[in-house]
Amino acid sequence: MQLDEHLKILGVNGALHEVVIACAEGVFDIAGVVHTGEVSGYAGTQNVFGENQLKLDVVSNDLLTAELQKVASVHMIASEELDNEQELHADGEFSVAFDPLDGSSLVDVNFAVGTIIAIYPKGSFIGKKASEIHVAVVAVYGPRTTLFVAVAGKGVHQYLLTSGGFELQKEKIQVDDEGKYFAPGNLRACAKNPQYQELVNYWLANQYTLRYSGGMVPDINHILVKGKGVFTYPGYSDEPHGKLRLLYECGTMSFLMVEAGGAASDGVMSLLDKPLEHLDQRSPIFVGSKKEVEKALEFFIMG
Ligand code: AHG
Ligand code: MN
Ligand code: MN
Repeated sequence: MQLDEHLKILGVNGALHEVVIACAEGVFDIAGVVHTGEVSGYAGTQNVFGENQLKLDVVSNDLLTAELQKVASVHMIASEELDNEQELHADGEFSVAFDPLDGSSLVDVNFAVGTIIAIYPKGSFIGKKASEIHVAVVAVYGPRTTLFVAVAGKGVHQYLLTSGGFELQKEKIQVDDEGKYFAPGNLRACAKNPQYQELVNYWLANQYTLRYSGGMVPDINHILVKGKGVFTYPGYSDEPHGKLRLLYECGTMSFLMVEAGGAASDGVMSLLDKPLEHLDQRSPIFVGSKKEVEKALEFFIMG
């Protein structure tokens, strides 16, 4: 079954259906430039996070923005690669936030990368929480291009990009409450954050299997597809909030995981309930199987 037909079965119709399909079109376009390798090198510009943009970051941003521009029901957009949120259509019903290419620095070593998109109610993103997301669309560009679509209250579904379009692969993906896979981001923080070192020691002492690539999307994709595990990217003294962005990465990936029966925290509160204070806000993240997130937090709360 094709994505557009399955969306209707999930009750995603009208303007929201249009926006989700535009996101999928954008993913299709980005998959093309990622896999053909025609775009390489640095753009010579920096994003609002002070990161040097790859041409692929900018091209991916422009491809997705162009698809959203075509849809009158898109009110505002915000992108990891844009300095400010932008109004596309004054009467639009939905605002869309995205990281057009997550893990872009991994493309030149041919690791998997992704696109992270969240469809919110209209208006500015400031003050919004991930719990308000209507639909999340997350793509994984690996040996295959796959797509997760998480619909609020209707679960997470996976599609495979075939010559015929996005074909439904698996409905209602669910993660178990526990499972011994760990994806420890920001391991360098162990040098200054003994609680993280203790948590890593716990995983090793209990023979957890390491599954970490350095790409947040493929690393969390592994938890969803295998149905268990935990991904962490904590902060430490130099970077108390870590590196990952609340709006473009943590919020959306947390919404995805919770819709699949998992949990997500910043170490203190659920990442679904954390209101956005500013577009470039960063957040620590502990996300995955419920009991694995709880166990990880024990080491941080105890400390
Ligand atoms: P982006 O390429 O969009 O900037 O995001 C990369 C992120 C995320 O994919 C990954 O989990 C994290 O960077 C890895 O960070 P380190 O390089 O600090 O390990
Ligand atoms: Mn990213
Ligand atoms: Mn990015």
